[in-house]
Amino acid sequence: MTTRRLVLTRSAAVIGAASSGLLLPQIVRAQSDKVRVGFMLPYTGTFAQLGVAIENGFRMALNEQGGKLGGREVEFFKVDDESNPAKGIENANRLVQRDKVDVLVGTVHSGVQMGIHKVARDSGVLNLIPNAGVHVATRAQCAPNVFRTSFSNSQPTLALGKAMMERGHKKAVWITWNYAAGEEAYEGFEQSYTAAGGTIVKKLGLPFPNVEFQALLTEIASLKPDAVACFFAGGGAAKFLRDYAAAGLNKNIQLYGSGFLTEGVLEAAGPAADGVLTTMHYSDSLDTPRNKKFRLDYAKTFKAQPDVYAVQGYDTGLLLVKGANAVKGDLSNKKALYAAMEGATIDSPRGQWTMSKAHNPIQDMYLRKVENKENKVIGVAQKAVADPATGCKLS
Ligand code: PHB
Repeated sequence: MTTRRLVLTRSAAVIGAASSGLLLPQIVRAQSDKVRVGFMLPYTGTFAQLGVAIENGFRMALNEQGGKLGGREVEFFKVDDESNPAKGIENANRLVQRDKVDVLVGTVHSGVQMGIHKVARDSGVLNLIPNAGVHVATRAQCAPNVFRTSFSNSQPTLALGKAMMERGHKKAVWITWNYAAGEEAYEGFEQSYTAAGGTIVKKLGLPFPNVEFQALLTEIASLKPDAVACFFAGGGAAKFLRDYAAAGLNKNIQLYGSGFLTEGVLEAAGPAADGVLTTMHYSDSLDTPRNKKFRLDYAKTFKAQPDVYAVQGYDTGLLLVKGANAVKGDLSNKKALYAAMEGATIDSPRGQWTMSKAHNPIQDMYLRKVENKENKVIGVAQKAVADPATGCKLS
């Protein structure tokens, strides 16, 4: 229990004792407080839409429980992290120290996540990662109070190499933003593509969130690879798709990507995205009752189409609901709370997934193709993909 809550609880108990003559156990008082949930997400910049989709999804999961967590009301706090790693620690501390949140939900950008991670490890606050795939969070620096509901950065691209080689694309150029997410997506790509017999002709990059792609696209044209593979996301991904097509490259060099490339951007990219092939743990077109209901409910509630980020936010809510229900809302019972979340099977719109010992999803990766502004499933590229969790000592 936080110091502030202790004080509040004690004063409430004193008033209660004075008026009723009874001293109720403090735990009852603590549980009648609202659960404090903090969102630390990007609400501005190239990842702004991702932050909104995650928050929407999370709220939807709680709304399905009458807005409660383990029977307790919920109070929300919000910080715009601007996808700015330099402010990561300061922003996380706003939620943890100033707002005294019980749970910190965040974030999208891997660099910012490292700031949250330090604060989560130092303070012990429960951190649910609804997107950022930075490896170390569920590898060498894994922690009992940190759970990821999304992916590790190399998970989607670990399923990409084989799919490319099966289509006869033997020589590829890789392009990305030069920061943790791009570098680690490359790791998965390099591993799977070279293992399948492919050759990486060149690795290209530019600083995050730069979108001046022209010089690099000219270089790709002169390298004449069979295919291009990439990691981009959000507004930058939409611009990359448009520029790739405007340069005429989409006509003869097949574009592949970690699936974020075509998430939440298909309206903005228009026909430029047609035919792009990606691997990802979700697809709009998954033909299951679970996914169809989710998509319908989300569209009704938010007047927008959900994407993978909305699903990840939703699953973050589902995971917390499972944990909170198991401890009847007493989130201070960390042992039981974490055990319930560790053992959870999440019945997600993406398909069922389980939590690895390192607290990262074990999940199927789909191969998808963009057709008429939709990510159409072609098949399962790889089943039950797990991050190697190298160096994680949780068991
Ligand atoms: C990340 O920085 O980890 C990141 C950001 C956006 C994505 C995926 C990963 O779509």
